[in-house]
Amino acid sequence: MTRRNFVRSASYLTALAGRVGSAAPALNPNTLTKFVDPLPIPEIAKSAGMRAAPGQSAAKIPYFRVPMRQVESKFHRDLPPARLWCYGSTSPGPTFETRSGQPLLIEWPNELPGKHFLPIDPGLHGAESDQPEVRGVVHVHGAKTPPESDGYPEDWVVPGKSRTYFYPNRQDSAALWYHDHAMGINRLNIYAGMFGLFLIRDDVEDELNLPKGAFEIPLVIYDRLLRQDGQLDYPVSGDPARPWVPEVFGDVMVVNGKAFPFLNVEARKYRFRVLNASNGRFFHLSLSSGQPIHQIGTDQGLLAAPVPLERSLLAPGERADLVVDFTGRAGEQIVLQNDAFLVMQFRVGQAKSPDTGVLPSVLRPVPKTPEASAIKTRPLALIEKMTLKGESMTMLLNDTPWHMPVTENPVLDTTEIWSFINTTDDSHPIHLHLVRFQILDRRRFEPFFYQNSGEVRYTGPVIPPAPEEAGWKDTVRANPKMVTRIIVRFEGYLGRYVWHCHVLEHEDNEMMRPYEVIAATAK
Ligand code: C2O
Ligand code: CU
Repeated sequence: MTRRNFVRSASYLTALAGRVGSAAPALNPNTLTKFVDPLPIPEIAKSAGMRAAPGQSAAKIPYFRVPMRQVESKFHRDLPPARLWCYGSTSPGPTFETRSGQPLLIEWPNELPGKHFLPIDPGLHGAESDQPEVRGVVHVHGAKTPPESDGYPEDWVVPGKSRTYFYPNRQDSAALWYHDHAMGINRLNIYAGMFGLFLIRDDVEDELNLPKGAFEIPLVIYDRLLRQDGQLDYPVSGDPARPWVPEVFGDVMVVNGKAFPFLNVEARKYRFRVLNASNGRFFHLSLSSGQPIHQIGTDQGLLAAPVPLERSLLAPGERADLVVDFTGRAGEQIVLQNDAFLVMQFRVGQAKSPDTGVLPSVLRPVPKTPEASAIKTRPLALIEKMTLKGESMTMLLNDTPWHMPVTENPVLDTTEIWSFINTTDDSHPIHLHLVRFQILDRRRFEPFFYQNSGEVRYTGPVIPPAPEEAGWKDTVRANPKMVTRIIVRFEGYLGRYVWHCHVLEHEDNEMMRPYEVIAATAK
């Protein structure tokens, strides 16, 4: 496909010199020795004391201060350190760990340098040349957060400035994640390393006696392009004035900050909290041992029951809570792979203590939201605009760019069906802020007929969600040439949020829209 043939030439990067720096040639990942770096585990964020909760001077809650910073870190033993942007001092940043109903205050100062090191496209909304180059704003993906703390894309701050956000965490246990959300440069900031995990725990989860402590391991997985000097390489288009590319696919698989790492494990059960933090790559994860992977949770927490899988499919932004049993495999070296790509290696040793972790047969009830409870269905088309040469120009939600007035305005405490009519050839992971939802179904339709008539003509059967995505979700794969329906209750807060595609190159180029939760009387 021509539009995927983006330019990735070092000489072109050199042409951009001032911004990109002296560009070394692209790194061939086959030249890297695999499985020589131990898997890093991001540290748990430490609170810097207690502070008054907003609006309640009596109640004191944990306060954290985590600056956005530039650091240097090696992706691999045999590479020089790469310049990264991150939260705190590592990428991924520190993992926040809290409990359902335990609020947190986090101050996010922007301590980044004044120049960006990745190719800003001034043709993208919000990234015009009159805007500051370096801007940051943090969103906790999957969190039910008041709008002023949600990280609205236009709420960015420049270096030297800071924002303190309030996270009530009134929601079920789940693996959320935080990342940058600055308008028009989100893809670059996240590519530079600005993300981390945010775990919420609760009593239901505790009582299951899942593997924990050293046997619960976060796996933040993403792909990158690197140069021979160890630096990040972000591809650019052939047009120096408009460097945006429609998708980025790296050939170096990175887990928790290291390329192709290894982890020593014991012959026992492990719980892996997996996040796909890639800009655009979908992962199909499996184990070289061919053993089952038991998925116990989705984006928004525990499934009703474990689902044994051969492969776990994760789009950008999606999370999977997985249990893998290495019992009886001492001495084996098991590779986590993404189709043909190697990702990381597990070196199985003897269990040093009895395995008390459990893979329960029942996890947490997930009551189905009845379709009849929806008071409204919104048909929302996913559209890609092409140039005459067949190159991708932009992708749109409902044919409406970001700056147009709000069109999705659900009433607080009501339920709606959002029906994503995907006319494109790509799967788009669609994410709604604030809410959790369930997938109703997917169904093939005729995109051309729809584009000409505005009518959906189905050509295939109704396909229910796979068992492993039949839990609470916040990101859903809207598959190509299909209508994907979700049912969602708008709970929590009134105000302005966003919904968008989580392929970050799409999101930055108009595949994002504001939405507003309104009061019943306002309608
Ligand atoms: Cu992962 Cu708008 O977010
Ligand atoms: Cu998309």
